[in-house]
Amino acid sequence: MSTSQYVFTDSQHSEEFERLQAIEQVFDPASRKRIQSTGITTNWRCLEVGAGAGSITQWMAGVVGESGKVVAVDLDTRFVANLKSSNVEVLEADIRHLSLENHSFDLVHARYVLIHIPDFQVALSRMLDLVKPGGWIVIEEPDFTAARAIFGEEAACQAVNRVNRAILQMFTARGMDHALGVKLPAILQRYSLQQLFVENDTPLSHGGSGIARVMRISTVQLAEKYIATGEATQEDIEKYCLFADDQNAWAIYYATVGTTAQKTAD
Ligand SMILES: C[S@@+](CC[C@H](N)C(=O)[O-])C[C@H]1O[C@@H](n2cnc3c(N)ncnc32)[C@H](O)[C@@H]1O
Repeated sequence: MSTSQYVFTDSQHSEEFERLQAIEQVFDPASRKRIQSTGITTNWRCLEVGAGAGSITQWMAGVVGESGKVVAVDLDTRFVANLKSSNVEVLEADIRHLSLENHSFDLVHARYVLIHIPDFQVALSRMLDLVKPGGWIVIEEPDFTAARAIFGEEAACQAVNRVNRAILQMFTARGMDHALGVKLPAILQRYSLQQLFVENDTPLSHGGSGIARVMRISTVQLAEKYIATGEATQEDIEKYCLFADDQNAWAIYYATVGTTAQKTAD
C-alpha cells in the first residue's frame, strides 16, 4: 500500500489530529489495560505500529523507563515527530517493510492499523517476526459489521444504517476487510503462540459520547467516499452527524476486538 491508500491521507492536519486525539481519549484506557496484562515493565523494548498522535508511545516510554525503549513507526509521523523522550525513536516507514532486526521486541502493539492495509497478512507476519520468542503482540482492530442504530427517530435510524452500509462498502471497495477485528483471533491461531486472549468490546453508546464523536469526525472527513459507494446521501451524512450529537439517540458505532498473544518461547 502506498501512503495514498490510507483512507485518511487527504484529511486536513487539524481535523486528523482532532480525530486521532479523540480515539486516544476513548480507547487508551482499554489499550493500556491489555498492554499491562503482558507484564510490560522497565527495560522492555516495545514497538508501536501506526503510532497516530502518540499517546500510547508516550505512555509505554514511561513504563519501560530509561533502560527500555519504544520505537514508534507510522507512514505519517507528523504528529509524533516531536515526541521528546530519550527512550523513544520515531520511524517514518511502512510496517510491511520495516527493516529492523527480527526477534528484537518484547512487545508489539497496533490499534486500528491492520484494517487499513489490504494485504494486512504481510504486516502481521512482519510484526510477529519482530517479536522475541516469548514476547507479546497486542492487536486491536474494529468490526464494523456490529454497527447499528438502536434508538432514535425512525428516519434518523434509517439514515444512520445507510451510512453504516456505506462504511462497509467503502472498505470492501478498497480491498479491506470491515470485519477484520473478529477474524484476527482465528488468523493469529495459525502462528506459533503459547497464549491467546480475546476481548470483544461492543459499546452501546448515546450521542455525544466519545465513540459517537470519533465516528462523527470520521464521517465528516470521509463523507465523499461514503456517498461514492451509492449507499448513502449527503442528507444521510447530515442526519448521522445530528444523531451522533443527540444525547437521546443510541447506537452501536462499531466493535473493537482486542487480541493479546504470547509468541512461543524457543
Ligand atoms: C486510525 S489511525 C490509528 C492511530 C493509533 N494507532 C491510535 O489508535 O490512536 C491508523 C494509523 O496507522 C498508520 N498506518 C496506516 N497504514 C500503515 C502502514 N502500512 N505502516 C505504518 N503505519 C500505517 C496511519 O498513518 C495512522 O497514523
